[in-house]
Amino acid sequence: MLLSRRLIAVLALACACSAFAAAQQPSDPETERKIDALLMQMTLEEKIGQLTQFAGKNPQNIEMIKQGKVGSLLGVLGAQDSNEVQRVAVEKSRLKIPLILGYDVIHGYRTIFPVPLASAGSFDMPLIEQAERVAAKESTAAGVKWVFAPMVDIARDPRWGRVVEGAGEDPYLGSMIAAAKVRGFQGKSIADPESVVACVKHYVAYGAVEGGRDYNTVDISEQLLREVYLPPFHAAVDAGVGTLMSAFQDLNGVPASANHHTLTDILRGEWKFDGFVVSDWGATHELIAHGVATNDAQAALESLTAGVDMDMVDGAYINNIPELVNSNKLPIAVVDEAVRRVLRVKFKAGLFEHPYADADREKTDFLTPENREVARKLAFESMVLLQNKNDVLPLSRKQTVAVIGPLANDKSSQLGPWAGNGQAADAVTPLDAFRQKMGSDHVLYAKGVDIPPFENGLAAGVAAPAPPSATGVKNFQTENKPASIPDAVEAAKKADVVLLFVGELAGMTGEASSRSTLDFPGDQMKLIDAVVATKKPVVLVIESGRPLDIRWAADKVSGIVQAWFLGVEAGNAIAHTLLGDASPSGHLAISWPRSVGEIPTYYNHKNTGRPSAPDRWHTGYLDQSAAPLYPFGYGLTYTKFSYSNLKVESPKISANGTLRVTADIQNTGKREGTEVVQFYVHDRVAPTSRPVRELKGFERVTLAPGEQKTVEFSVKVNDLGSYDPEMHWIVPRSTYDVWVAPDSASGIQGTFEVE
Ligand code: NOJ
Repeated sequence: MLLSRRLIAVLALACACSAFAAAQQPSDPETERKIDALLMQMTLEEKIGQLTQFAGKNPQNIEMIKQGKVGSLLGVLGAQDSNEVQRVAVEKSRLKIPLILGYDVIHGYRTIFPVPLASAGSFDMPLIEQAERVAAKESTAAGVKWVFAPMVDIARDPRWGRVVEGAGEDPYLGSMIAAAKVRGFQGKSIADPESVVACVKHYVAYGAVEGGRDYNTVDISEQLLREVYLPPFHAAVDAGVGTLMSAFQDLNGVPASANHHTLTDILRGEWKFDGFVVSDWGATHELIAHGVATNDAQAALESLTAGVDMDMVDGAYINNIPELVNSNKLPIAVVDEAVRRVLRVKFKAGLFEHPYADADREKTDFLTPENREVARKLAFESMVLLQNKNDVLPLSRKQTVAVIGPLANDKSSQLGPWAGNGQAADAVTPLDAFRQKMGSDHVLYAKGVDIPPFENGLAAGVAAPAPPSATGVKNFQTENKPASIPDAVEAAKKADVVLLFVGELAGMTGEASSRSTLDFPGDQMKLIDAVVATKKPVVLVIESGRPLDIRWAADKVSGIVQAWFLGVEAGNAIAHTLLGDASPSGHLAISWPRSVGEIPTYYNHKNTGRPSAPDRWHTGYLDQSAAPLYPFGYGLTYTKFSYSNLKVESPKISANGTLRVTADIQNTGKREGTEVVQFYVHDRVAPTSRPVRELKGFERVTLAPGEQKTVEFSVKVNDLGSYDPEMHWIVPRSTYDVWVAPDSASGIQGTFEVE
């Protein structure tokens, strides 16, 4: 019964595929003709080969490439190796179809940029785009023509380790960043030798895994899917992304890698995507563990017919699809359509004309001063000043600082997780940078404590050894001496101000790095308490891939800086900012929970029938506020800004109009500063309950002391709509609130009406 239902679905899809292929006018008829010609020559095995990706350069893969049974490899790095495997495909396989070589370039290839959650907080789209341009140039120099990025999963749960890989919790910001990254990676054309094909992932709703546990189940409404989780993918598709990666988890009972609704109805049907979809690592085979397939053959059938064109590493397609076709369980039209999509991307990427990497570029294109400059700028714009009591920051170069903590000189953690082909040795640590900028005599150093692996032995960091102490420097930490809290206290006592670098090791974040608490691992709290007890002013500099629990911090320390993992230029950017060479401008791309118990905390929540209030019978907790410690969009700088004079150009407007709202922003402090001015909207009455606020615009504004600027936001009213219960996009006639604001919890307010 089950089998025949699947068969009907398969046949229906085969028809749908050809109907769709006809409906979708090929943008380039010449390319489609070339694909037709190839398809006519290809054996069934060669076709499935194009749908097969394996990992690494090894004799078995080389043999398969020769036989035309592999269309892609992942993780082959360097011009020499990549050209070697490519040569086998282009010179030794019967049809000479080039491979497409992929790799995870999540925040840089060799020049490592801030982790994506950090750089999202820059709200600087041109700079984010530029960083991916650099990443594309370096990747292609190493023979990587396809990057498994951008990761655009919206995430509301910082327990999930992969929250670090995406742009945070907001669908609007996430969409802007998705598009900027696709533009950066793909450039004007993916055929450009310095452009890569981007792969937006993980399609879809991976960020909603229950309990923040990686790979866990996801059960969400269609409305949430469409309003929160799909938009960044849609934006990437609209920006021309070449490929998508299907996610590991199940979505409303149907695994994302076998989900016809998202992979075909929405992606191909509604969005007209004409590139290809690759499964995540082994996700086809995992359909068995999900319990929707009994073996790899059934898994391959489900995955391919749902819309996953290429199978990553598990061999389920190459080992089973020929037999499925030969036994008439799978129409060849379905295979041909998937092969067409893969070949289309290969043709568009110019791989048939230029299959090889230019080996010379490896000597010139990596980690250039210009690349480092982009990394430094983005790192500088990504860190967020959360607290600055008594103007403890910026520091003066005349002060003596104690640089303390397990992350102050940990090179590999500066890079963060998923650090491409980054090398720990390339990273500038905060200790390096403070010594260099202040002179070693002004900098005392003590590690204080080590960060041990968690008790189950997972997530041990790979800390680089500390550099030898400079002669004559009052250094409380030497290579041979174990980290000790008394040494840290000693250093703190001798300093004017303490910079405490605490947080997580890079290896404690990223894939398979979910945590059940947001605590500082190991004995870091003991270190913090001991240093605070010296009564010296303390600036907490947190390096982590997620917001950590810092309820205790506001009263104990003077300054709090969230530095995430800022990449190769981390130290320079941190020292630059803390020494006041420029004012910080990063804002949080994720709400900062007070405690793990209030997760998920996100600014665009619903009002509920009993909105949060100080009395008991309202939504909230008995034992703490339900509001985040710091809201989405929050970030301080060394000056202050005032917001005034909000004006709505048309207080009554039609659904097809364009809303214009202006406000005056003034720098009321004594230093130049950059503000991320944010624009939020709330629809008061709609068929479905609406979020209390939704971000619909932002602008970075740099103002000299006293300077004022009128900022204008211009938004199509149609973009302020929502899905009705039947999933139609509507713009309800209603009163809408608007805010121009420094974060998602404050700002100046106005209203307008949609007539
Ligand atoms: C698994 C990860 O989920 C995905 O993000 C990555 O691109 C692939 N492995 C390939 O490395």
